[in-house]
Amino acid sequence: MSLADKDLAALSAEASGAVRTATTLDALEAVRIAYLGKSGKLTEQLKQLGSLPPEERKTAGAALNQVKQVIAEAIAAAKESLENIALSAALEQDRVDITLPARSEKPGSIHPISQVIEECTELFGAMGFTVAEGPEIEDDWHNFTALNIPESHPARQMHDTFYFPADAEGNSKLLRTHTSPVQIRTMQAGKPPFRFIAPGRTYRCDSDITHSPMFHQIEGLYIDKNIHMGHLKGCLTQFVQTFFGVSEVPVRFRPSFFPFTEPSAEMDIGCIREGGELKIGAGKDWLEILGCGMVHPAVLRNVGLDPEEWQGFAFGMGVERLAMLKYGIPDLRTFFDSDVRWLNHYGFAPLDIPTLVRGLAR
Ligand code: PHE
Repeated sequence: MSLADKDLAALSAEASGAVRTATTLDALEAVRIAYLGKSGKLTEQLKQLGSLPPEERKTAGAALNQVKQVIAEAIAAAKESLENIALSAALEQDRVDITLPARSEKPGSIHPISQVIEECTELFGAMGFTVAEGPEIEDDWHNFTALNIPESHPARQMHDTFYFPADAEGNSKLLRTHTSPVQIRTMQAGKPPFRFIAPGRTYRCDSDITHSPMFHQIEGLYIDKNIHMGHLKGCLTQFVQTFFGVSEVPVRFRPSFFPFTEPSAEMDIGCIREGGELKIGAGKDWLEILGCGMVHPAVLRNVGLDPEEWQGFAFGMGVERLAMLKYGIPDLRTFFDSDVRWLNHYGFAPLDIPTLVRGLAR
């Protein structure tokens, strides 16, 4: 049975009353559900329309729908006004005090290793060197054989090199023990002349105050038709003077041995050690800084170059060592402890790479 007109009017009045007394959005939603929800009072009435005789159904339906619309409109109006009230209250309460000073963000800092690599890239870049890269997982040929390191060389033995398990043919990949394989890969991939540095991670099974199993090197290679030992000395002397910011640093090239260079040398720079302090630039002491030499003809032949036509020099240096010397960092292992306090102390402001080359020219 459908509601009589009188009852319908009462239901409508009851609903409007409920809307009026709802003072929160939640309460209003409860009213909506009670009347217009799936089993709300009005919805129930609408569901019963089907059971009326057809001649009554039309008028009853129209009346119910009109009441439904009145209720829906009342709810919508109430909702809008409650939302406005909530918004004004929030604006009143959450007022932002724009006179408060902003909370400062702590900027990150550049790790000394990255800093030194950036400095060297800029410095050698000014001398016409580009940057090359190679894989850290290498094969025996690129890391040793092509560099003229014979089978019997101690560097190949397990105590120095991290090897991966052998494959089916018995060949083991390894973690490169130096950046020199980048010489081989870059020369094989391109055409001479070559003039590049190759900074990157290197690995040796070694750990104490001056050795970490993972460390960084910067390789350098300059191959052209008329490069000689004078270029090597000039280039590397210019490098240490600019890098350490001392114009008259004494340098010394001590004969040494590397299988991939001939002649080979170790470069020392003059320094003073006094009261636990190290001063670079002058004095009677010497400090070893890098390995270098003229590229061995066998290496050039291994990458398909004629040593009668092409020649040049190579060098390799430890990045941690350069950073320790330049920035007075005493323990190499602390580089990789990931201690934020250490980084705050030794790190560098981002976007503030000192422009060494331009700095000196000024
Ligand atoms: N690869 C050598 C090392 O790791 C360094 C080096 C590079 C020496 C190039 C000479 C020329 O010790």
